[in-house]
Amino acid sequence: MPPKPLSSSLAAALSGRIRVPGDKSISHRSLMLGALSVGVSTIEGLLEGEDVLATAAAMRSLGAHVERRPDGVWEVAGRGVGGLAEADDVLDMGNAGTGARLLMGMLASHPFTSFFTGDASLRSRPMRRVIEPLARMGAGFVGRSGGRLPLAVIGAQSPIPISYELPVPSAQVKSAILLAGLNTPGRTTVVEKEATRDHTELMLRHFGAEIVVDLLPGGGRAVSLTGHPELTGRAVVVPADPSSAAFPVVAALLVPGSEVVLTGVGVNPLRSGLFQTLAEMGADIQFTDRRDQAGEPVADLLVRHSALRGVDVPPSRAPSMIDEYPILAVAASFARGQTRMRGLSELRVKESDRLAAIAGGLAAAGVKVTVSGDDLIVDGDGGPPAGGAAVAVRLDHRIAMAFLVMGMAARRPLSIDDAAAIDTSFPDFVTLMNGLGARLVVPGGEG
Ligand code: S3P
Repeated sequence: MPPKPLSSSLAAALSGRIRVPGDKSISHRSLMLGALSVGVSTIEGLLEGEDVLATAAAMRSLGAHVERRPDGVWEVAGRGVGGLAEADDVLDMGNAGTGARLLMGMLASHPFTSFFTGDASLRSRPMRRVIEPLARMGAGFVGRSGGRLPLAVIGAQSPIPISYELPVPSAQVKSAILLAGLNTPGRTTVVEKEATRDHTELMLRHFGAEIVVDLLPGGGRAVSLTGHPELTGRAVVVPADPSSAAFPVVAALLVPGSEVVLTGVGVNPLRSGLFQTLAEMGADIQFTDRRDQAGEPVADLLVRHSALRGVDVPPSRAPSMIDEYPILAVAASFARGQTRMRGLSELRVKESDRLAAIAGGLAAAGVKVTVSGDDLIVDGDGGPPAGGAAVAVRLDHRIAMAFLVMGMAARRPLSIDDAAAIDTSFPDFVTLMNGLGARLVVPGGEG
């Protein structure tokens, strides 16, 4: 595929009411748990981005019936816990770390061999973090150096339950172990010193599994699952993705005169670190009509242009906003004063090395930025940065969208080398943002 460059220049005041696409984390999990249930599950608001479509295809290859109805609701007819069948080809998970790691967990306790691959970004990402605990449960792995994809998972014939303390805060690793624990006799426990997103726990419970969550002193959790539950097909309603909402939210804060409403956004506290940080920076974001949607809290957001100030973001907040640092760094470059984002080592192993990608892009756009150890420090004077840069997005959707947002309020236009990655999580990004007043165009073309 030829690259798809895109440029972003000063936007008119953004205004309108939008719904961003469904939550990526919840969408992956709904397809997977639907496939492990007896009966039919319905999924409303599923994210139809490339990452999730790769998971849908994988679940089909493993024997589940997955179909999109004409009304846009997805149906999954499952095979029951332990009922997946060997796929007759390699499972290509595209760009999706969540799809790959969670599925590796599920298949670690199915007694057959599965083969995984993905795009250049996914093939470079570390898988040892899931291989290590899943091997303790009895699965075998054959992968490339560093435990990278392509990789084969040799499912355990007689899986063993484990109690495992996560060495890094990762919802993907936690979820992989819990999903392996479904087809494992006895009690599988994951201990996390810092709480990470709990969508797997909430959804497992929704589908009928027995999950016990003990809160530990200091904010951690111990999550235990009893193996061999009977999961039953359920109705899932997927909230709008807060990680996608982050881009129009910050765009509205930065572009003078803006006022934007985002409806039905997921506001799970373990995902809400960005909203908390932006509030501390002086952002005018109002949460209205808070409600519960199939076990997940959602709200409407009213966002108005705001003058921001620099803040110190503690490392303890990283798990609740891990995907939001690219756009927070953009917000920080328009703020008055210094923003120090601490403890970001995990950003180095995302879809790209995000610490390097953010720092490189900001510096090219004339922002004063430093990486010190695992901290990212951005100094702003309260005015718009120069812009005028061409940013390489490195197959990373969030780097692409963050710099396009920067271009909406920077002094000179910004461009990215390839917008294709945006389709992994936010297929309508360009149309939706231009509908609000942004000016995202193909350089040299008509847009
Ligand atoms: C996710 C967990 C996070 C996040 C990713 C989605 C999930 O990854 O960055 O986009 O759905 O569980 P880690 O588990 O690697 O922190």
